This record gives sequence, structure tokens and C-alpha cells, in this order.
Amino acid sequence: MDKLILGIESSCDETAAAVVKNGNEVLSNVINSQIDLHKIYGGVVPEIASRKHIENISPVVDEALEKAGVTFDDIDAIAVTYGPGLVGALLVGVSYAKALSYALNKPLVPVHHIRGHITANYIAHPDIKPPYVCLVASGGHSHIVKVNDYSDFEVIARTRDDAAGEAFDKIARVLGLGYPGGPLIDKLAKEGNPHAVEFPRVKMSEDSLDFSFSGVKTAVINYLHKAEQKGEEVNKADIAASFQQAVCEALCTHTLSAALDANVKTVALAGGVASNSSLRALMTEECAKHGISVIYPPPILCTDNGAMIAAAGYFGYLKGDFAEHDLNAIPSLQL
Ligand code: KG4
Ligand code: ZN
Repeated sequence: MDKLILGIESSCDETAAAVVKNGNEVLSNVINSQIDLHKIYGGVVPEIASRKHIENISPVVDEALEKAGVTFDDIDAIAVTYGPGLVGALLVGVSYAKALSYALNKPLVPVHHIRGHITANYIAHPDIKPPYVCLVASGGHSHIVKVNDYSDFEVIARTRDDAAGEAFDKIARVLGLGYPGGPLIDKLAKEGNPHAVEFPRVKMSEDSLDFSFSGVKTAVINYLHKAEQKGEEVNKADIAASFQQAVCEALCTHTLSAALDANVKTVALAGGVASNSSLRALMTEECAKHGISVIYPPPILCTDNGAMIAAAGYFGYLKGDFAEHDLNAIPSLQL
């Protein structure tokens, strides 16, 4: 029997809801992004995000049902992101989902935001089956995860400091490009030389695949300061391309090592940074040398959305992984 899951996401600056059938057929995917509101501050302002989620959540959920051509009666369960993320933002989605679950007497499925990002790959590639290795790189996270089964995840590596997306956003800011920085650097880098400046690639130690992006970030900032002091013009496209190359090389080499160690034949990309054109190209090229194929969701399913939460919720639903109505938001929920 078909199962329809309503997915709700509000962990950062997107209020999103979606209806997904059987874990991979997206009937609707409504995303209300607050990017324009936060742009003027150069990043997400948590208090503003929470307030906007409160305004948006009800119309976004209603629109998701309408676009899917269903009513609350047709929904089998409500899945919601309960962490990690901004606590005030998460609480809006969690409270709304709990109220719906209680009023409709339908199961509530708690979803880990990062597991949601990984699960977006099943929507884009319904045939893919675990085990595989997934690189999750977003504004808040950079993890290499071994996916053993649909709900069995093993963290192989993580960032010791900044997330990859955070580094993209900071460098875009110092280059005066705007927010969010990832797509802007991606675009500008196409006009630059990725080997114009060799920014550092950090390897933590021989036995660790952990990432560190604060070094490359500082190197770019120092480079720009020095040029400014000397009154030298910098070619922003070259800097964007060289910075992007350094980050993407680190993401690729560590992920490839993890895939070889785990002896898997597929690498998946997930999270906002998975939209990066250079990362996709480099990872595909490097993995192909070892017979490993690389998959990723379309950009709309890489950044935060409700469909990935509904898809992850489907697997939780099948396992009977339900939450009570005392479910709380957990801002630093571990994988
Ligand atoms: O997954 P996401 O929407 O939110 C979090 O869970 O954090 O990811 C947003 C992040 C931002 O840092 C944004 O700059 C980055 O993803 N991003 C990109 C690209 N598109 C979005 N980074 C690099 N290249 C892109 N094309
Ligand atoms: Zn995210």
C-alpha cells in the first residue's frame, strides 16, 4: 500500500514542507527561503529566522498539501527535522508537527537533518542501495558518512572547525560577493584559474580523514590583506577559483580514501555544497579512476527542503521509529 509522508523542515533559514510517496516520489516540495531577509546581515540571524518560520509554517504546509492534491486525511505520517540546527528555528517545525500529529492522530517521525540530506539521493536515484559512502557538505556540516543501511549511518570523518559551506560563505563575504556565498563563488570561479594561487590543503594526520577549512580561509584572507596593503589589484575570479579548488580537492581526496577503505562502489554527495559544479566534476573524475560511480541530487534537493525530510521519514515510518508528543528540538543532535 502506498504511504504518503508529510515532511517539515525549519532548521535554518528555509521553511519547507513536502509530500512524498513511498520515500522517493515527490508530490510537492514547497520551500520558502528567507535568504533575502538575512542577506543584508551577511548571514542567518537566528531570531529573525524563528519569527519568519512562525509566519510561514502554516501557509507552507497548506501549499504542500494543495500542490500534492491531497488533504491531511490522506497523509500516513508527519516527519519533522528535530536537529541539528538553530534551536528557535527547529522548535517552530517541531511544535507544528507535534500539533498536527496530535490533532490528526497520525504518527510523528523525528528526522535527523543530516540523514535527510543523505536520503535526498534516493529521490534522485531510486535504484541506489546501501552500502555507499556519502559526503555531506553544507553550511553547518561537513561529514563523510558510511551508509550501511537505510537507517544505519557511521560517521567516518567530520570537520574540526568550519563547515565547507561556511568557508564558502565567509570567503564570498571578504570578496564582497554577497550571501549565500557558495553559488556566487561557484559562478565567479568559472571565469578564473583554479591554480592561480596554491592555497593550503590540510591533512590532519595519517590515520584521520577529518577536514579543516579554517587554514585555507585564513590563507585567502591574508592573501587579500597583503595585496591591499601593497595596493595591488587582485583578480577575484582567480581567488574564487583557487579557493574553491583547495576546498574541493580536500573534500574529494578524503571522500575517495573513505570509499576505498570501505570498499564501496558508489559515492553520494549531499547538502548545499553538493551543488558545487567543481566538486561534482572533480569527485566524478577522481572516483572514476577507481571504478567508483558518483551520484548527487539536483540542486533543489541539495539545499534544505521538506522532500528529503519526508523521504527520511518514510524509512523511520517503516521501522516504527515514532516520537511521542514530548519530542524536543535538539540543536546539536549527533549522527
Ligand atoms: O544544506 P544547506 O541548505 O544548509 C545547511 O544545512 O547548512 O547548505 C547551505 C550551504 C551554504 O553555505 C551555501 O553557500 C552552500 O550550501 N552552497 C554552495 C553551493 N550552493 C549552496 N556551496 C558551494 N557551491 C555551491 N554551488
Ligand atoms: Zn541542511
